[in-house]
Amino acid sequence: MPHRCLAALALAAAATPPPRQRQDIGKLPALGYNTWNDVRCDGVDATTILSLAQGLVQSNFSQKGYTFLNVDDCWQAPLLNDKGELVPDSLKFPDGIRPVVDKVHALGLRFGLYADRGFYTCAFRAGSRHHERTHAKQFHDWQIDYLKYDSCWSPNLRRKGALEDYRRMRDALAEYAPNVHYSLCGWSSWYAPAVSGEEGYHSWRISADCDEFANIYEAARTMEQLSDYAGPAKGYNDPDMLVGTSTGAVTLTPTQSRTQFDLWCVLAAPLLLGTNPSRMNAWDLETYGDAEVIKIDQDPLGKQGTPVSSTCPPHTPKDNWWCSPWSMPRDVFEVWTGLLRALAAVLLTSSLLLRGAGRPKAAAVAFILAIGSAGYVRVLHTYRPRVAACQQVWAKPLADGDVALLFVNWAPDDAAVACDAECLDSAGLTRRPLYVREVRARANRAPLVDGASALVQRVGGGGGSVLLRVGL
Ligand code: GLA
Repeated sequence: MPHRCLAALALAAAATPPPRQRQDIGKLPALGYNTWNDVRCDGVDATTILSLAQGLVQSNFSQKGYTFLNVDDCWQAPLLNDKGELVPDSLKFPDGIRPVVDKVHALGLRFGLYADRGFYTCAFRAGSRHHERTHAKQFHDWQIDYLKYDSCWSPNLRRKGALEDYRRMRDALAEYAPNVHYSLCGWSSWYAPAVSGEEGYHSWRISADCDEFANIYEAARTMEQLSDYAGPAKGYNDPDMLVGTSTGAVTLTPTQSRTQFDLWCVLAAPLLLGTNPSRMNAWDLETYGDAEVIKIDQDPLGKQGTPVSSTCPPHTPKDNWWCSPWSMPRDVFEVWTGLLRALAAVLLTSSLLLRGAGRPKAAAVAFILAIGSAGYVRVLHTYRPRVAACQQVWAKPLADGDVALLFVNWAPDDAAVACDAECLDSAGLTRRPLYVREVRARANRAPLVDGASALVQRVGGGGGSVLLRVGL
């Protein structure tokens, strides 16, 4: 065998991720990339997945810990085969899933796949309902490392039934694919008390899709009440994937995108990139590549941060379903409200024409329907998530005794955000002097000495934030 081939093989063998012990899976929040926020449905195919995998390695993200390459919805055909098995879309994955997984593994990465507890996935591909064991066996044959299990098109709309659906796949994985990281995607905070600490559940979505900044605010406010459910022996609350500023089906402003990332790290959230690692702009490279910030997310204590100061209004977490006003994805919301408005206009015109033609009853029906459609559009708009003009300080205790403090300004204008004596006390920062490091700026500030009772921080508007690491 020529030397070059031997060298390539040796490299591949060296890069292959070591087999993981079951007890280590999900001990810390998962780090990697997911296709959904970046390439949505159309971009999911074997060639793209392999180039994304190479991108994760070449851009050094894999060395920084981003080792999961997760393929979201649309890798499957719309129907199961006659044995009830999932069938990879033959145009997108002509050689099936396993060869792609092998190549991804050879690059030292782990491979994640998406399935759904209903009859169909959210993008109308075949679901796993009633075929959980068959599919878990396929996942094992394909050697996948991570399963995102979504919540569309199941007749089990209530909590008990939803949990039964999730439990069936959990049990099937335990039987056939016990080394798979199991990530629930039920978009609601009640999953946290239900599955945290239960064997075989590693993370669970607690809120709607983060495809606009208002959803990020919603997710953060929902996380406030869930910190007790996160930890190495419990699993992690998942406020959804990251939204970048470079490529992608959804993007945020640079300020908002960085705030999402830094907040997610303080929240011990899974960090799944939503932007192509090979095509990231300098801002995103800096946001997601900052080792000091990633370290806060991956801190071995696995504690989820909590607000130690907040001017925000009280918040009630919402039970989301896919097409509820507060969780309907932005693109669906726009198409849907556009259609309803057009319908209202057609009905109103018909009503006038029918009246003119001497058909008062039909005109009245068309008029009522027009009012109904317009009213529904109004309700949808009223209940869309909105960002409150408030400020917060979040604190996350770290294993070395330091505390990560994140000052967030959700309001549109710049503001001075203070962590006063009570706030510092709540963060466990009771002694003086306090050593303060501005993490992103890599700058140590003058220590906070006796007599100085507050940390005050100027924070940019429109979702700005400043991350400090404070030590005793
Ligand atoms: C749901 C999930 C998203 C994504 C899509 C795919 O909306 O919440 O994260 O997986 O389905 O269709």
